[in-house]
Amino acid sequence: ATHESQSCSASALSVDTESLQRQIDELSTFSDTPAPSVTRILYSEKDVLARRYIKNLMGLAGLSIREDAVGNIFGRWNGNDPEIPPVATGSHVDAIPYSGKYDGVVGVLGAIEAVNVLRRSGFKPKRSLEVILFTSEEPTRFGISCLGSRLLAGSEPLADALRRTVDGHNVSFFDAARSAGYAQDRDDLSSVFLKKGSYSAFLELHIEQGPLLEEEGTSIGIVTAIAAPASIKVDFEGNGGHAGAVLMPYRNDAGLAAAELALAVEEHVLQSGSIDTVGTVGILDLHPGAINSIPSKAHIEIDTRDIDEKRRNSVIEKIHHSAITIAKARKVKLSEFRIVNQDPPALSDESIIKAMEDASEELNLTRKWMISRAYHDSLFMARVSPMGMIFIPCYKGYSHKPEEYASIENIADGVKVLALTMAKLSLK
Ligand code: GLV
Ligand code: MN
Ligand code: MN
Ligand code: MN
Repeated sequence: ATHESQSCSASALSVDTESLQRQIDELSTFSDTPAPSVTRILYSEKDVLARRYIKNLMGLAGLSIREDAVGNIFGRWNGNDPEIPPVATGSHVDAIPYSGKYDGVVGVLGAIEAVNVLRRSGFKPKRSLEVILFTSEEPTRFGISCLGSRLLAGSEPLADALRRTVDGHNVSFFDAARSAGYAQDRDDLSSVFLKKGSYSAFLELHIEQGPLLEEEGTSIGIVTAIAAPASIKVDFEGNGGHAGAVLMPYRNDAGLAAAELALAVEEHVLQSGSIDTVGTVGILDLHPGAINSIPSKAHIEIDTRDIDEKRRNSVIEKIHHSAITIAKARKVKLSEFRIVNQDPPALSDESIIKAMEDASEELNLTRKWMISRAYHDSLFMARVSPMGMIFIPCYKGYSHKPEEYASIENIADGVKVLALTMAKLSLK
């Protein structure tokens, strides 16, 4: 009977690789920097165009579309039992400055294609299937990573902090959101929060962003855990002054304090005793930023991660201690040391791991279990839903740079595993 849900066989799944590649290429043209780089910042004109592009594809895939107050976009395929919690999948399409065209995008376009794949195979879901485009996985504009999924997971502190959050040009979060057509009820974001149990499963397809799958010639990575990320903002203030006239003994150079702290970050990370601890200073701004003026203010942002939360936290403590010591020694003021986020790691759900395993097996795809060192919206969806992630190989592990690349064959394998896993979970 056509209205009954039915299981799905691996051999019935075929990906339209030509369309998918074209979509990836087209989406990459919504960028504020020239190809091959991609820059797509939250609520910018290009972000809005990308969202429109995705909603159009969701519509063509027969999904019914809903958007929440911060612009998370949901496309639903109603199952035969639309009252029970759906199976969801998705990722992001925002892109950090000068990055590539696959990070996040593969998990959104790939999810829509997975729906198309299942439809073409004749599959009928029991639980509804939902594709989600998450708002701002990247922290570029407001300094907050996984903004959309954090809110979906019910972060009241974030909903509150956003009332006072501005970007680098002093545009408030809510003005930016409104300019993109969101947040119409001014500043109440509680409508975004999901109840625990809203989904029976959440899946995310993503490029590995590391070299292992490609090196080993393995088709599929089954993610068992996501490492614990943290980020910190630090400001130092000194007296500044004339670069020629103020002699060295009379300076308190905020820029040198920041430089010293950046080196201290590296030292603490290297001394953690584990290769899994990483730390990066990706932002270092000096004020006034003139060659002949001693920096009177320095702003640095630190990203540190580990698969071991305690070890990561102890690195944060050491960084804090260094910031205080350096400020004292250099007679500058440590005017801010703010831990922006200090998130725990997340574990994938056993039964979802099993479903991803079975799907890869039925598709004859080699696979390995792995840890995600990058964070993803899945880190936060895991707070409200059982979670699992599918990785595909990418060229040399390159990511967050224009050279990022994944072959359409590898992407198609990931889409099939996603489709088959969703089909299995939909019938559970
Ligand atoms: C997100 O892109 C991350 O930095 O892991
Ligand atoms: Mn990214
Ligand atoms: Mn990503
Ligand atoms: Mn990421």
